[in-house]
Amino acid sequence: MRYGYFDNQNREYVIERPDIPVSWTNYLGVKDLCTVISHNAGGYSFYKSAEHRRITRFRQNGVPLDRPGHYVYLRDDDSEDYWSVSWQPVGKNLNQAVYHCHHGLSYSRFICDYNDIYAEQRLFIPVNEDVELWDLRLKNNGSKVRQLSIFPYLEFSFHHVEMDNQNLQMSFYATGADYQEGIIEYDLYYEPEEYYYFASSFRPDSYDTVREKFLGNYRTESNPRAVERGECHNSVELGGNHCACLHKRLNLSPGEETRLIFMLGAGRREAGKKIKEKYSQAAKVDRAFLNLREYWEGKLAAFQCRTPHQGLDTMLNTWNLYQAETCVNWSRFASFIEVGGRTGLGYRDTAQDVMAVSHSNPEMSRQRLLELLRGLTSQGYGIHLFEPEWFDPEEKKKGKFKSPTVVPERKPDNIVHGLEEACSDDALWLVPAVCDYIKESGELEFFDEMVSYADGGQATVYEHLKRILDFSAEQLGPNGICKGLRADWNDCLNLGGGESALVSFLHHHALLVFIEAAAYLGREGDVGQYRKLAREVKRVCEEKLWDGSWYLRGITARGKKIGSQENKEGRLHLESNTWAVISGVASEERARLCLDAIYKHLYSTYGLHLLWPAYSEVDDNIGFVTRVYQGIKENGAIFSHPNPWAWIAECKMGRGKRAMKYYNALLPFNQNDRIEIRQAEPYSYCQFVMGRDHSAFGRARHPWLTGTAGWAYTAVSRWILGIRLNFDGLIIDPCIPADWPGFEVTRCWRGATFRIIVKNPDGVEKGVREVILDGKQIELPVPPQKKGSEHEVVVIMGTRP
Ligand code: GLC
Repeated sequence: MRYGYFDNQNREYVIERPDIPVSWTNYLGVKDLCTVISHNAGGYSFYKSAEHRRITRFRQNGVPLDRPGHYVYLRDDDSEDYWSVSWQPVGKNLNQAVYHCHHGLSYSRFICDYNDIYAEQRLFIPVNEDVELWDLRLKNNGSKVRQLSIFPYLEFSFHHVEMDNQNLQMSFYATGADYQEGIIEYDLYYEPEEYYYFASSFRPDSYDTVREKFLGNYRTESNPRAVERGECHNSVELGGNHCACLHKRLNLSPGEETRLIFMLGAGRREAGKKIKEKYSQAAKVDRAFLNLREYWEGKLAAFQCRTPHQGLDTMLNTWNLYQAETCVNWSRFASFIEVGGRTGLGYRDTAQDVMAVSHSNPEMSRQRLLELLRGLTSQGYGIHLFEPEWFDPEEKKKGKFKSPTVVPERKPDNIVHGLEEACSDDALWLVPAVCDYIKESGELEFFDEMVSYADGGQATVYEHLKRILDFSAEQLGPNGICKGLRADWNDCLNLGGGESALVSFLHHHALLVFIEAAAYLGREGDVGQYRKLAREVKRVCEEKLWDGSWYLRGITARGKKIGSQENKEGRLHLESNTWAVISGVASEERARLCLDAIYKHLYSTYGLHLLWPAYSEVDDNIGFVTRVYQGIKENGAIFSHPNPWAWIAECKMGRGKRAMKYYNALLPFNQNDRIEIRQAEPYSYCQFVMGRDHSAFGRARHPWLTGTAGWAYTAVSRWILGIRLNFDGLIIDPCIPADWPGFEVTRCWRGATFRIIVKNPDGVEKGVREVILDGKQIELPVPPQKKGSEHEVVVIMGTRP
């Protein structure tokens, strides 16, 4: 069963049936103002922080689904019939009304055709302005003059997610709203700078700011009193629950069209006035929308492909990067699942997220890397979850608002948690992330930039990376394998002093990446020292972690093997075995054996399971994973994030067919017509898909904010299509199904554009026979070229004579 389709021309996903079992969401805003919005216009806005600066309210996990939202009601003032431009909240009978939703790149359009009135509501946030525009178009397709009333409606939130859900004795009296000169202003009285406004391109006929007045008692957004009676109450009040509605009456003759603009912005009435003036001009709205489109086209242009695989093209060229960028912006804190209660940056999540967008968002990558570097302790582990502003220089903190409810400020010594809270993998991801950024940008000086440590003192970026590697070298268990500490990548594997195979493999990987950098910089002393360490790590891994047919996942503090053929449950784990291969620890023979075991035991048509068999017996030496229902999340679901690691590992072994098989299994695009099973958006990777041990096998959960986005993007672009970088050039090393005749990629790198044409005349899966740059045969890598120049690179796959 399907609910919509991909429109590649417009880079939109078009939902044709709004009665989807779950909310299919989108993100508006690319800088400070953000709205998470569903296909039914339900959702919420916030400014900078989904925790501290909420603008519109969201009743998460509520009934009915995704209320309230950014709605427009229409009312026929003759018949008194009313409906909404998005299907919900009024929910007209779908046999009588046509409802579509187009989710595009940072905008959504809601379209409704009902009783001869065509209506379209387009929501977006201009790239450089803190205002959400609601661009409403109406057309009378009938033969009668229609008298209509328009009611845009939103519900304001108390400003802090906790204020909005608790401590109501205080929250109820902290905000107020009023109306002047066509603009509703909403403020948090305690805070001198906390104001929001709602304005429109017309002179309203009536308005409401008091929620209970607009909705009426014992009613909901489905049947608001004001809409039913055809007029607002002109309500204002200090304290209480607030909303914004600016009502307008108009007549539409047969064939007549009209356009109205609404503006929800951050700032005082004064700011609202300027915005009202500007965006009352439709041409300015059009310009802002075009700018937004150009913003995304500019990013996407950094990597565009044309392959024989339509789904791969659709996802890689648009949706996958869009999702990856969204993760870099909002980390894991703003969705319908993560609703702002836990904000800040997760150390490992952010370090992995930035790897994928160094080409499309270098500024943000650099900013995030610096934030992570400042969140590193001098001992070499990262602060697992932190707000970047905790480590802002003192002068930046001055003038910050203090709440009248006493919330003690964090001081460095209670921000910096101890080793017992440290995750063993967190900072290891930062080493490749920093190097990726430098390979992309060429900014070698970044290695020498001075950055503070979370617990005081400062050192260069390069020195920070060494601390990370040294920390893992020191934190070893009795077998010489890295300790698991609070957790490793798997949050639910809590080994404490037990040992994590994954972390030793990650350590080896980070060492190799660092050695490459040190060699490039000519720092021979470090090259020698860390090579020696890498050899030792590899030796211990090969000696202690091989289990006969695959690698272990770890060893508990009591010396019991995890992920072994000896075990009854959790015999085989995906993460350790994929990283054994990616990290270069596994010998060729062992790599083949463990990857074949993954295929045999973990593969399903929806993707690779995280482990097999799922745990049913609680074992706290292994961790929380044994207390999760079987087939869900970390306990044997198809956990999406490590799936691309298997694609990369297969590509390293030259097995393009199998990499593609795995890719296809997880690809949301491929599930477009099976929504009765998948349920979630087909344009977003999800955190997990229920595994075969669960009754809802194949159901996907937690879209958008997942490390899968970045890793899927990286695995396809750099390993399947094979276009990646080292410090001095572009490498082209595809690993594809043998029946692909070739593909093309346009890649921008350091200001030059490369049109890469890969041909596969012999039908191989891997191997490059010849590379021709602008007509001349060369050896890889392709060196950097002049800014602004364009080049053609022809790559012939095959075996070299
Ligand atoms: C979630 C977390 C991530 C973790 C993963 C596996 O996605 O955000 O940090 O690695 O779960 O437990």
